[in-house]
Amino acid sequence: MSTSVPRPPAHAALVVRSLPTASAEERQRILEDVEYNVFAFPAGLLTCDFLSDSGTSAMTDVQWAALMRGDESYGRNWGYYCLLDAFRDIFERGNDRHHIIERVLAGKTDVEFYQTKLLMSSQGGFVNGGRYQLERPNFFILPQGRCAETLLFSTMSSMIGEGYGSHSEHGKPTMIISNGFFDTTGANAAVAGFQLQTFMQPGLTDPFPQQLIGKTNNFKGNLDLAATEAYLNENPGKISMILVTITNNWAAAQPVSMANIRGAAALAKRNSIPLFLDACRFAENAYFIQRYENGYGDKSIVDIVQEMFSYAEGFTISLKKDGLANMGGVLCFRDQGLFAQRYKGIGMLLKERQILCYGNDSYGGMSGRDLMAASAGLYQVTDKAYLCNRITQVQTFAQKLQANGIAVISPPGGHAVYLDMEHFFFGCNRKLEEFASVGFTLELIKKYGIRAAEAGPFGWAYDLKSPEERARIPNLVRFAVSRHVYSGEHIDYTVAAITDLYDRRHTVPNAIITRGKHMKLRHFSAGLKLVPVDQTITDTFFGEASRQIGHLSTAVGEDAAAREELTKALALATGQWGQRVVPKQVDTAGWVSSVSNDGSPIEYSVSIDQVTGKAELRFLTEAQPNKNSWKDLEEAALRLNRDIVARYPVSMKRFNIIKDLFIPENPSLLSHQNTKLAAWHSCAWSSNKGPQWKIYLDPSATGKDNALSTTREAFRRLGLDKGWHLVEGILGLDDHVIYFSLDLAADAVEARVKVYIAHGGADATSRSLVAEVARKHGSICPDSDGFEIQRFFAAMAGSDFGREDSLGSRRKSLISCFAFSGKTGERPVGTVHFPVDAYVQNDAEVKRRVESYLVGVRASAAARERYVTVLAAAQRRPLNQGRGIHAWVSLKQRAEGRRENTFYLCPEMLGLWDAL
Ligand code: F0G
Repeated sequence: MSTSVPRPPAHAALVVRSLPTASAEERQRILEDVEYNVFAFPAGLLTCDFLSDSGTSAMTDVQWAALMRGDESYGRNWGYYCLLDAFRDIFERGNDRHHIIERVLAGKTDVEFYQTKLLMSSQGGFVNGGRYQLERPNFFILPQGRCAETLLFSTMSSMIGEGYGSHSEHGKPTMIISNGFFDTTGANAAVAGFQLQTFMQPGLTDPFPQQLIGKTNNFKGNLDLAATEAYLNENPGKISMILVTITNNWAAAQPVSMANIRGAAALAKRNSIPLFLDACRFAENAYFIQRYENGYGDKSIVDIVQEMFSYAEGFTISLKKDGLANMGGVLCFRDQGLFAQRYKGIGMLLKERQILCYGNDSYGGMSGRDLMAASAGLYQVTDKAYLCNRITQVQTFAQKLQANGIAVISPPGGHAVYLDMEHFFFGCNRKLEEFASVGFTLELIKKYGIRAAEAGPFGWAYDLKSPEERARIPNLVRFAVSRHVYSGEHIDYTVAAITDLYDRRHTVPNAIITRGKHMKLRHFSAGLKLVPVDQTITDTFFGEASRQIGHLSTAVGEDAAAREELTKALALATGQWGQRVVPKQVDTAGWVSSVSNDGSPIEYSVSIDQVTGKAELRFLTEAQPNKNSWKDLEEAALRLNRDIVARYPVSMKRFNIIKDLFIPENPSLLSHQNTKLAAWHSCAWSSNKGPQWKIYLDPSATGKDNALSTTREAFRRLGLDKGWHLVEGILGLDDHVIYFSLDLAADAVEARVKVYIAHGGADATSRSLVAEVARKHGSICPDSDGFEIQRFFAAMAGSDFGREDSLGSRRKSLISCFAFSGKTGERPVGTVHFPVDAYVQNDAEVKRRVESYLVGVRASAAARERYVTVLAAAQRRPLNQGRGIHAWVSLKQRAEGRRENTFYLCPEMLGLWDAL
């Protein structure tokens, strides 16, 4: 088969339901009516409902046929026998299936059939037959999974109270260990008096290479066997049960490997503890094992299921999941197994309680037709084509989100896609107790009629937990995919809707609880209210900048120690003015800094290596004057110099040699008209070198006409005449020296001298100017590649490139930077800067240009991801709301073809650039 033809579809829809056409305004009114509780929102007004995969399956035509054969007699209807037999077939018999349901469906149930099949005695497994089920009941039908849990845990607990269970502390329910308790499971065990220990294999949120999705799987749902073993050794006799949930719904629907189940069983056996399975999604788990676990590729789903359950002493199951049914649950345990021995006579007790609460043992709260549908469903759900289709749909859903930059727990699990909300709101300054993820789910309902469930700080009651417990609470939103219900069209709609909210994440409201904060499982019934986020900055310049630096240092991959160092440097650089509260807008009567395009006296930049994706973070600041005067400005700059010298191993030697050229002793020499700066300071951080300081000076300080001679003299004094000669040789009439900078590093070989040239005349989209700049670089920089420069400029100019009809002088110029150091020799390293903010409508457009440029130059996935993360860390608003977050983008060409792009990012503390 050609590889471009996808797998054939596994099913067709023969019954359809029209979806509602409610508007966002209408849904908003309904949200108010239901106190903003996601669970309380009427399903009939939704377009796509991803609240749960439980009981929401569309049944197959075979199940509907079975349903028609349902019998509602009170005692021992067909459904009862069919379900018992289906359990034996699926969980015990392997390939030796009896399929008695087929005879029932065909209506061929004579006395002989009853005697030889339905009433046949059998024992020793999960489903005793005939008289053994009467004498030693071990199979209990219930309305759903949680009823099985209540029945099991409450009965165990009361028996432990009477001395059963072989625990060291006589009479006390003790501990249950699990790879992950579903919320009702945990709650039911806790209510029965058990303590819970979750030992989930670490690494659930660790990244997983996208290219390996669908190829390998690391079974993130596993029980942490080492932790379990250590715990068992330390607490002998205190553990009542090991409960392995397959798939692990608590751990983002991740599968559990056969090796892990086997390991858990061995541990349990060694310690004489019964191993139970929470088997709600056993078939999906079996599919993962078949597809990804070594040694199981050739085994059938039937064989794998049989092996999985061979390790268990018993299990609970909700037939609403992998029973493909809308209702139903079962509890069963191995006849005469360890559990049965420990709790002698528990079968009869369970039966009494079952009858008390749920009715006769042959229906357990289920209608006869539901028993039939579930029986048929168990066969259908273990069909390989179905499972492949199902798991692939969830996987595709996850991959489409990832392709749009939205992080999901990866590799995707079985029944649901889980958004990583830490990543979603990264850089947005949301506190966990502000329940932004709930705000997201409510926005999704309102705007798009799509329902998902928060599985994070709200659902897990973060606000009520101890610090240790808090640290273990995930921050996820679950999109559980119903079986057989949605098509690719629904998935695409949902992916687009989530992407839209992701793009607007800064405006997604938070939520507060208005009622029911202390209720158990409060997400089902608490009342909430949306809280719009106030984007106004109320902090100081330093407070705000250190927050952004914090996000950015995370984005560039620095650790907490590096972040602290950089924050210290920031505190020094922002000094006294850093303690001022950020004003609502620029005070144009005061000194307006040109460091950033919104007038903030600070700018961030991040350079990214196109191959390695390694990044370096810097900030640039201008020491702010107390008063709007040159004298104050100069004083502030020099004071900062002194502060840096006092705290860091820098050298001012070279600065002192050239100082008078840029900051003349005699103020009458100053050209006040053009003064842009006295000095700017930047600090870069790299893990091997630590903080590196640099100072920027203004060659036009004593007048524009002097810029050239000032720079020439500075180079001469620093012994770089030859280097300057090269630069001067390429300058045309429209090229202007605009900045001069010095590394303050003590190491004279490392320390660079840089000169920045603005290429005026035409605007930055001019094809001929771009070619000219590329040529100039080629003529003096040994490592420059003219084609790469032109490709870079063309990509940054986007569709404007070569239009030549621009607004000319109103727009910003291209800039070149030439860097000299003891390492570069006489010839410089060249960097070209594109003033991207002046040539776009908004930052979303810049992002598109940068991304397509990075793809075009075959930058690594790491480099591309780094850029996206860095941008997310810096932005404080939706990208399409305006322009200016990206101020400049540059390309530096180093030896051996190494290329780096640097992104100059505006903090936007004082609002949008265009508003200035
Ligand atoms: N165990 C697991 C692993 C579950 O996922 C669920 C239900 C239950 C037990 C309880 O079964 O609903 O039939 O009483 N999970 C649903 C969900 C509700 O949305 O994940 P139940």
